[in-house]
Amino acid sequence: MKYGYFDDQNREYVITDPKTPVKWINYVGSLAFGGIVDHTGGALICKGDPALNRITKYIPQLPSSEFKGETLYLRSKQGHRYKVFSPYFVPTLDPYDLYECHVGLGYTRIVSEFYGIRTEVTIFVPLGDSRMISDIQMTNVSDHPMDIDAIPVVEYTHPDALKQFTNADWVPQTMQSKAYRDEAGMIILAQYPFMYKETRVNYFTSNRRVSSFESDRRRFLGDNQYGTWANPLSLQEEELSNCEALRGDNIAALLHHLGTIRPGETTRLITQLGQDESIEKALPLINRYRDAEQVERAFKEMAVFWDTYLSKLQVETPDASMNIMLNTHNPRQCHTTKNWSRYLSLYQLGLGARGIGFRDSSQDVMSILVSMPQEGKELIKKLLHVQKRDGSAMHQFNPLTMIANEGDSREVQDAPKYYGDDHLWIVLAITAYLKETGDLAFLDEVISYYEKDKDGHSLESGTVFDHVRRAIEFTQNNVGAHGLPLLGFADWNDTVNLPAGAESLFVANLYGKALLEMIELARHLGDAQAVAQYTAYYQTMKQRVNKHAWDGKWYVRYFDVDGSPVGSHSNTKGQIYANGQSWPVISGFAPPDRAKAALDAIYRRLNTRNGIKLSTPGYNRFDPAKGGITTYPPGAKENGGIFLHANPWVIIAETIIGNGDRAFEYCDQINPVAKNDRIDEFECEPYVYPQNILGDEHAQFGMARNSWLTGTASWTYQAATQYLLGIMPTYEGLQIGPCIPRKWDGFKVTREFRNAVYEIEVKNPGHVCKGVKSVKVDGRRIEGNVVAVFGDSKTHRVEVILG
Ligand code: GLC
Repeated sequence: MKYGYFDDQNREYVITDPKTPVKWINYVGSLAFGGIVDHTGGALICKGDPALNRITKYIPQLPSSEFKGETLYLRSKQGHRYKVFSPYFVPTLDPYDLYECHVGLGYTRIVSEFYGIRTEVTIFVPLGDSRMISDIQMTNVSDHPMDIDAIPVVEYTHPDALKQFTNADWVPQTMQSKAYRDEAGMIILAQYPFMYKETRVNYFTSNRRVSSFESDRRRFLGDNQYGTWANPLSLQEEELSNCEALRGDNIAALLHHLGTIRPGETTRLITQLGQDESIEKALPLINRYRDAEQVERAFKEMAVFWDTYLSKLQVETPDASMNIMLNTHNPRQCHTTKNWSRYLSLYQLGLGARGIGFRDSSQDVMSILVSMPQEGKELIKKLLHVQKRDGSAMHQFNPLTMIANEGDSREVQDAPKYYGDDHLWIVLAITAYLKETGDLAFLDEVISYYEKDKDGHSLESGTVFDHVRRAIEFTQNNVGAHGLPLLGFADWNDTVNLPAGAESLFVANLYGKALLEMIELARHLGDAQAVAQYTAYYQTMKQRVNKHAWDGKWYVRYFDVDGSPVGSHSNTKGQIYANGQSWPVISGFAPPDRAKAALDAIYRRLNTRNGIKLSTPGYNRFDPAKGGITTYPPGAKENGGIFLHANPWVIIAETIIGNGDRAFEYCDQINPVAKNDRIDEFECEPYVYPQNILGDEHAQFGMARNSWLTGTASWTYQAATQYLLGIMPTYEGLQIGPCIPRKWDGFKVTREFRNAVYEIEVKNPGHVCKGVKSVKVDGRRIEGNVVAVFGDSKTHRVEVILG
């Protein structure tokens, strides 16, 4: 509990020490408008696309003490000088009497006390809106009256976020600011690059009279910028210069004289940072949000959204840390990854062509289907728009332009320009959507393929069903020497880039899982021909995998172009890969004895107290023939690190073979809640999963990085709710098939499914891991363990006895 604690009542994490090892962040708004707020008030905000329409300049690589994007200064006169400080701690770093950053659902609230002033700032984006609001309340907690000025500040970036860093002449020549005074005499400070001045403007404004403003950073800091953010020289003047910047580093600083605040008295200031086509167009909403009541109403609406989102699935297990994650923080992180893919975090900087990842978002979508299936469907449709006619997929795309590209493969000459796995993930996402909703009509919706003519018109369209069938055919037709799927530039593991012709066992197994889904779907549709076809594909691939890929101890991970195995006990480095073992179980290709041996090998060779390593031992020198994996030292990231995304797949595999004890052990050891007590080792936010943790070959074993945007969120949520607790949507109904630790007496789940609520209570009197003995629905015994679709808006009680 060094830097903070979980407040479960308010579904917050409360940071109580601003000097966390790295910045801990929260997300506000959505990709449509929003971004990151860090725990010292810094903000990285964009609209629609962080690469192409970024608003604030936030440079994560700067030291934690530096100003980033936004801050708030307060000042009061002391003798001839002003005492200037930031209630956000950064950038003035004054000593505080209290510091709390409440990381909430869609909002951050910073509460601090400095020099007798208690400040409480609630930062959020109203639902569906294009503005970030900071609702600032200042209370005099001293015993004497104080004269207070408040100066909120933002720093702008050029909307083309990469250009900001590559051209230090063009960018400043274009950046301009202009002050508008509305009818009531209120100042709105607008900002735009010259080329956008008639089409979109950023603005910063407040609900109190602005006495003076500044839009030029050089003037604000003073002394040709030898004044600093920690001590801006202009804040020693009575007023700011009212400069409308014609170029340069644009900021927006608004000086408010709040007057005398008596002991115990509170005063309030509300700021808005937004973007619209023009100030005229923005005015009605600007005026609305100057009203504190409207701000409070918008905040409540947002709270209702989160209540509803989370209420769709709530659990009560014997494990308190699991409950905290599954009821709040894990689904919340799933919502974040669904929004931002791997685009914008403190680690994935949202610059250039990174965009939305096809593979990543296909997996993210699966975790929010229970809460927001419509949004899930919309994202699936977007993804299908960048699938190619041959069934493979473009690797990533910019959400504003929908222009896609082939990812890192573009940078390597002669490398295949596709990834072996991308297109198969969408099969899993679509079938998950169909099972959740029963919306089979979706299969008939027509969506264009990515290829276009020179006028930008798509060359071909197909139904959703056609899209998934082509995805399957692509893998079916692109196999190598062993008849196993070709790797392409890479598969899920982006960093193993073997020469063209190499084969991937990961793709083989993902293909197997996708085929299982296709067989089940075809069966549900009554399409016997498709059932037969996909069953034949499945059996053939199963046979090839078992014939070639079992090395006597475990499954190998790849075959190189010369036919040699990678991820085999015959290798000296990279002998065993976690995905090599978990996925043959998930695909159902592994016969029971091999499944058990493969998973036991993970336990012996890859497990650590901080999670399961992706592979071991790490490669110890750069080897261009292996690719990206060898750019990391042993123990880091994909090279022998604990790459968390792959952990839930092992959990799922353990539940498939019935080992609930080990499945839970794996869940528990990566639960970030428990890291709160070992935070100086872990370093990242304890309320979300990170992408990677350094493995035990590394001297900094246990240190996490790349928090928030990781497929770990979606898969741990699926692993826990659908496999461990075992509540799984199917075409026919809700299947209850838990695989839990033997010691548990049972658990409860409330889950919405196709417009009815299922109140499920599972009892485990015989203390088994798996096996459903009986199921009662509304007091009546049913056959099997699939509870019917009711769709009647009512609540149904489901009692399950294991044994
Ligand atoms: C990153 C990528 C993801 C990839 C993983 C493993 O998280 O976003 O697509 O599967 O790394 O390499």
